[in-house]
Amino acid sequence: MATIRDVAKLAGVSVATISRYLNKSGYVNADTELNIKHAIEKLNYLPSVVARGLAGKSTKTFALILPDISNPFFPELARAVEDVASTYGFTVILCNSDGQIGKEKNYIDILKSKNIDGIIFASNTLGQEDVDKLASFNIPFVCLDRAPTDKSCSVVRSNNREGGRLAVKHLLESGSKKIGHIYGPQDLIPAKERLIGYEESVRGFDWFSPSLMVQGDFGISGGIKATEELIRRHPDIDAIFAGNDLMAVGALKALHRMGIQVPGQVVVCGFDGINMTEITEPELTTIAQPIYDMGALVSRILIKKIEGTIEADQIYELDVTLIPRESTKRSG
Ligand code: RIB
Repeated sequence: MATIRDVAKLAGVSVATISRYLNKSGYVNADTELNIKHAIEKLNYLPSVVARGLAGKSTKTFALILPDISNPFFPELARAVEDVASTYGFTVILCNSDGQIGKEKNYIDILKSKNIDGIIFASNTLGQEDVDKLASFNIPFVCLDRAPTDKSCSVVRSNNREGGRLAVKHLLESGSKKIGHIYGPQDLIPAKERLIGYEESVRGFDWFSPSLMVQGDFGISGGIKATEELIRRHPDIDAIFAGNDLMAVGALKALHRMGIQVPGQVVVCGFDGINMTEITEPELTTIAQPIYDMGALVSRILIKKIEGTIEADQIYELDVTLIPRESTKRSG
């Protein structure tokens, strides 16, 4: 595929002249314009956003760094980010870091080299040195969901702690007498806050014991293993609150394998509100995050930062909603 250098060579001009022509960001005489036009046509050159960026103009592109693209929560988030970005004429580059710190740091340098206009981090590994580097590169950024709270940056997140409390309240109201919790990785702030919401809601009950809290991995297999461990420890539990929907799906699978009826014997509540919860059997009760609103808001905030219309960093904490379904509907 022809590059901007091939076009410059064929047209007999510098790369900077090509960039000025592409970005309409400076004088190019008529003859030169014609030469460049002919060269672009002859080479079938597609001006890359980087070519336009060489003139130091906005590439109208920003990146969304996600920790786990295989978890449906993140594609639903990315959908909203991209919807809003495209209405403002921005392109979104999706980066999947698998939650690997080195990969995320590497992305910052790669994206800088592509003249990216801004970055949305949906990960929790941002360190102060990364924040300082982004500032030195003059790259605006916003954090989303798993954001570190000790960094100076704007953050869009859900009220995870209230969501933990809401899950327990619903399970108690559905007649539960002993509630177990499968929590996500504790280096992730949302998982930690949901655990806090659960624990502060149940620790006053005489049936509560710390052994009712089992760690999962925010995935289906982790939910299966944690449920098996919960039932082994407490065969008499009649309710499980899982810290995200994939672990709740794992809980449904494990309980089915063990011949335990849901909701008849054990009720199950998840967290996130991903579309998958509508197709499980039984359909899954969940604490829904405002996924679309989070993605739309973070996109708008970053664009305003890129355009310089907002400066101040702010925490935007959005409410979560209980969506009651079959998995917590005890008969009778
Ligand atoms: O299911 C993925 C989880 O990771 C969600 O709960 C979301 O909050 C993210 O942190």
